[in-house]
This record gives sequence, structure tokens and C-alpha cells, in this order.
Amino acid sequence: MNKLLNLMSAAIIVSALTACASSSPAASSQNPAAQPESGGSLITVGFAQVGAESGWRTANTDSFKSYFTEANGFNLIFSDAQQDQNKQIAAVRDFITQGVDYIDIAPVTTTGWETVLQEAKDAGIPVIISDRKADVAEDLYVTYIGGNFEQEGKDAISWLEGYLAENNRSDEALNFVHLQGTIGADAQIGRTKALDDAVAGAHAGKWTIVAQQTGEFTEAKGQEVMEAILKNNTDVHVVYSENDDMTYGAITALKNAGINHKDVIIISFDGNKKAIQMIIDGDIDCVAECNPLLGPQVGDIIKKLENGETLPKITYSVESVYDIKNAEAHLPDAFGS
Ligand code: AHR
Repeated sequence: MNKLLNLMSAAIIVSALTACASSSPAASSQNPAAQPESGGSLITVGFAQVGAESGWRTANTDSFKSYFTEANGFNLIFSDAQQDQNKQIAAVRDFITQGVDYIDIAPVTTTGWETVLQEAKDAGIPVIISDRKADVAEDLYVTYIGGNFEQEGKDAISWLEGYLAENNRSDEALNFVHLQGTIGADAQIGRTKALDDAVAGAHAGKWTIVAQQTGEFTEAKGQEVMEAILKNNTDVHVVYSENDDMTYGAITALKNAGINHKDVIIISFDGNKKAIQMIIDGDIDCVAECNPLLGPQVGDIIKKLENGETLPKITYSVESVYDIKNAEAHLPDAFGS
């Protein structure tokens, strides 16, 4: 019975959405040339994705693909930029030429977006920025939804301060290896700033970054870079790795160098199921969460725009920090595998 009721309400929502889409003043006045490519009343959304560099990214892509379906009233045009901003800009231009109804961009890096966003604006196509921010004037996009990366970094630092205090280690001098994400990405800039500020500020003279290098958010590069770093620095106390995939690579590198990674404090970002399990197994100490499940939230934004609603310029995901105290409870809800 419950199932039947659920199916009936889903059908009502879908038909309300398609009716709204076909008569939407927002869609027709902002983009008179736009014609949904199939199904007549579907809303066509072009999604310029970063790439497929990480478990987080796979979960993010799946979240868009499973939400933006014809059954939900959408026609999704998906583009994978393979971490190359030029490819991403070309994809956005292609969406403009096709006359899509909405464009969603997860910008590889924060800079370099003015020209193409102005082109989208001139074509009357609303742009939503998701996952990572773009450094552009506010009139060039409708809204941003995604992580607050500097806050994630600050949360990770607060966790470390608490951990050191609990273990009577607050006065220890610590050597950090810092694996950065793609240089210039909002996620890298914010997480790096949090650590740099802590090292230069409250922990100056005690915390030292012995190596700071990009692993480009991939496991392979994380391992390669960590292996190179360990050739010159074996006295490592903390690894601050800006995503889970690089963390997996760094742990492999530590093991290959004959260093017991459980003696090193390992801080990661994202919160893949695998990383949460690794906390339980004692391989990772802390993960600052970054939520990839943005597809339905971007869908809600589009529905609100179709209804003529005004949106806040920024909506940050609500994110937590996981360690041995709460990893077990979170494991069933963690994304990915
Ligand atoms: O922008 C979010 C970041 O991008 C995630 O932390 C990382 O895993 C991904 O590649």
C-alpha cells in the first residue's frame, strides 16, 4: 500500500514538473530558442563535470545521472572534461550552441570563467555552479551549491588539535606532509589555506610543513608524489591529504617505504565508504567530509527557478568530521564503495 502511495505521489510530482517546465516563464523568456531535445516538455540541462579523478567525483556524477532522468522531467547532456579547464569551457560553449535550458558547471579551477559565463548570460541561459566555486562577478551565475572547503580544512585542524590534546601531545613539534588537490581548484585553495594559516599562526614554530605538493586528487599521483617525498623526509608525523584517493596512495607509499602508517596521523577529506572503513581499521585517523550527492539539490534549484523563486547566492553543504568515535555509526550512510 505504501509502495502504491509512493508511486502515485511520484507520478503527481513528475507530471507537475513537466507541466511546469512546458509553461515556465523562466525557461521561455530567458531562452526563447531553447527546445528540449527529446520528449517535448523535458528540461534540458548541460552538466560540465570536472572529470573522473576520484571516488568522490564518481559519486557526484552518479548523483546527477540518476536524478536528471526523463522520468524526473529532465534531459541531461553530460560532459567529462578530464580535469582540463579548456575542455570544460568548450563543453559549456557547446551547451550554449545547443540552446539548453540550464547549465551546471563544477569548475576545475576557480579562475578563467568570465568570458564563457558572459556568453551564457548573453544567450539567456541560467548557470548554476556546483561543487567548486568560480571566481566571477555574481551576476554571471544564479547560485552556488557545494562544499565550504576552507571550513572543511578548519574542521580537520580543530580535530587534530583536539586529538593532540586528548593524547597529551599538544606541545610536540610535528612534521607535516601536505598532499594538495588540483592547484587552483576551490577545494585545494580552501583546504590548503586552513593548514597554511594554522602553521603560520596558532602553531607557528611547532608545526612544520616539510613537503607540500599536488597529487591532483588521484590515487596514482598521490602515491607517486608521496614516494618521492619520502626519499628526502622519513620523519613524518602528520599527512594532511586533500582527498581520500591521494590518501590511499600515500598509505601505499608509506608501506612501501617500510614506515608503519599507523604511527603517522593521517588526515583525509571526502568520506568515501572505503575511507570510513579505513578509520575503523585504524589506517586513517580523521576524514573531513565533503558531500558529493549534489544532483537532487541542483534539481531542486532548477525547480525553484522554474517557479520564479529567488535563491541565495551560496548554499554550503552540511558536513561533518569522522574519526574512530563516529565512523562505525556513519559507515552505512557513507557514499561510494
Ligand atoms: O571538489 C571536490 C573535490 O574534488 C573532492 O574532494 C575530490 O575528491 C574531488 O576530486
